[in-house]
Amino acid sequence: MNSPRKTDRYKTHLSLLLRLTEGSRRYFVASILFAWLTSILDLINPRIIAFAVDSVLGNTRPDLPSPLLSVLDRIGGTGMLRPHLWMVALAVIAIAVLAGLTRYTFRMMNARGQEKMLRETRNLLYSHIVSLPLTWHNQHHTGDIIQRCTSDVDVVRAFLSEHLISLIHLIAQILLALVFMLSISPLLTLAEASFIPLIVLFSYFFHIRIARSFRKVDEMEGQLSAIAQENLTGVRVVRAFGRELYERKRFEEKNEAYTGLWDHLMHLLSLFWATGDGLSGLQYLLILVVGARFCLSGSITVGSYIAFLSYSTMISGPVRQLGRIISGMSRAGVSIDRIRYILNAEPETETEPVSPAPMDGDITFDHVRFRYAPGDAPVLDDVSFTCKAGQVTGILGSTGSGKSTLMYLLCRLYDLPEDGGEIRIGGRRLSGISRRDVRNQIGIVLQEPYLFSRTLGENIAIAGLSASEANIREAAKVAVLEETVNRFTKGYDTFVGERGVTLSGGQKQRTAIAQTLIRNTPIMILDDSLSAVDTETDIRIRQELDRMDSKATRILIAHRITSLMHADHIVVLDRGKVVEEGTHEELMQRNGLYRRICDLQSPDNVTE
Ligand SMILES: Nc1ncnc2c1ncn2[C@@H]1O[C@H](COP(=O)(O)OP(=O)(O)O)[C@@H](O)[C@H]1O
Ligand SMILES: [Mg+2]
Repeated sequence: MNSPRKTDRYKTHLSLLLRLTEGSRRYFVASILFAWLTSILDLINPRIIAFAVDSVLGNTRPDLPSPLLSVLDRIGGTGMLRPHLWMVALAVIAIAVLAGLTRYTFRMMNARGQEKMLRETRNLLYSHIVSLPLTWHNQHHTGDIIQRCTSDVDVVRAFLSEHLISLIHLIAQILLALVFMLSISPLLTLAEASFIPLIVLFSYFFHIRIARSFRKVDEMEGQLSAIAQENLTGVRVVRAFGRELYERKRFEEKNEAYTGLWDHLMHLLSLFWATGDGLSGLQYLLILVVGARFCLSGSITVGSYIAFLSYSTMISGPVRQLGRIISGMSRAGVSIDRIRYILNAEPETETEPVSPAPMDGDITFDHVRFRYAPGDAPVLDDVSFTCKAGQVTGILGSTGSGKSTLMYLLCRLYDLPEDGGEIRIGGRRLSGISRRDVRNQIGIVLQEPYLFSRTLGENIAIAGLSASEANIREAAKVAVLEETVNRFTKGYDTFVGERGVTLSGGQKQRTAIAQTLIRNTPIMILDDSLSAVDTETDIRIRQELDRMDSKATRILIAHRITSLMHADHIVVLDRGKVVEEGTHEELMQRNGLYRRICDLQSPDNVTE
């Protein structure tokens, strides 16, 4: 994902839809064509039955297109068919089978289009999201991002594969049926058609209300499960504070409201179906009565009358669906906007890689100034110091003094503003080195290590893709993790649970150190990575690190003086500024902040 990429811009809903359906569009088009074909085939059978009633059983001259008539004449006319009615039945069955096949193909094409579109949309969103800068991630909730990738994508899928295609399909089906009806009786068709706008509007407005009601039910369900979940996970707190009764009441109230909403929804749905059935029944009754009169007066034949009635039944469902679909389509706009918002966010810009930068030089922070958001107080204010190549630099400072921020800047997780000074490695400006190079060459053990729910061994090897078992053992040994692993019955195959919950804080930190060691980078940062291990292990890890024959430049961030007192150079940071620097001895003689912290932490004062 680090290769330079062009930002796509989706200015309109249509441009996004076109992008999302790039690979699946042809399936959707094919599915529409097959849907149309199915509709036509469906409409043919009532005509065959009308023909059988009127011309085979009765004596009306067949009302068929001339090519068909000449075929019929050649095989002996309707007289020949009368003793062989099975031939008509066979034609009906053949058409029905053909319609079945086209219907199957329509559904298959639609399903394939949906799957392809979903897969491509997920990939597009995911690859875009992982390329977005950390500043963007800081501003957005993970839950919201995930919702956009799941629910919103699903709404768009439904819009394309169900609503839009159904709309195109149903309108064509209704129009075709009307054309067939028109050829039977224009007047009767007018009577049929006059009901259509009424039913569509009725169903549209009802469905808008139903959707609103559904949303309320959904929201309430969310609240209800949130209360249940919170109370179950926090069951100890609830018991300890004796709040069971209060929490139960709260749950019961919400539960009652939830049931009430369902009641209302069911009432709406029943009303819709009952009224809708009534309207359609009225329409059918009208056709039935007027059609019968036409039939009696001889203006239409009995067969045509039967065919007309089956066309009327055939489209009554689609007409009602039309309203539901149109109301459902209005929801898609919001979801498309929410997806568009993510895809329009600017990804991390990547510096063109010039040549692999040598990372074994001095690291220089030169008048570095940084704030997370414009208008915020500066987190780093004119910070200048140098970490000598191949040496250990310690950084001491209270929480919030900007130590981690400094390291994020070094890894190019955030970029320095124009007037924010500069960071150089081996004399080369960091902003001129590609992010990929920077991150490949710097191993950072984050202050809050994040372990994946995999095995311990897999977690250690996560960044060293080609790590062998021996590498894993070696890294674990330096991180003083080996004895711990040996105590687990499954050793390196121990599953660490979600975020590493089955490990203690210190074990997690040591796993994170091993994770970084395995990469064997020329620059290594330990950001407060020994805070949760005991002093003795802390010393052992440092000794192991010193014993490694790597020439890595190391930056050691710590709270504990004992963790970094042996560093070649120590920088003391306070509220975003460098207040002192030097070796342990020099700083002790100065009688400044370092000395004060040291005195506070000396064994006489420590009461841990
Ligand atoms: N993502 C962020 N957005 C806004 N402010 C932040 C962010 N991360 C850290 N800060 C602020 O920057 C300051 C320095 O934080 P940090 O570099 O983590 O300090 P340290 O590592 O020394 O404890 C703190 O005041 C903190 O609140
Ligand atoms: Mg920190």
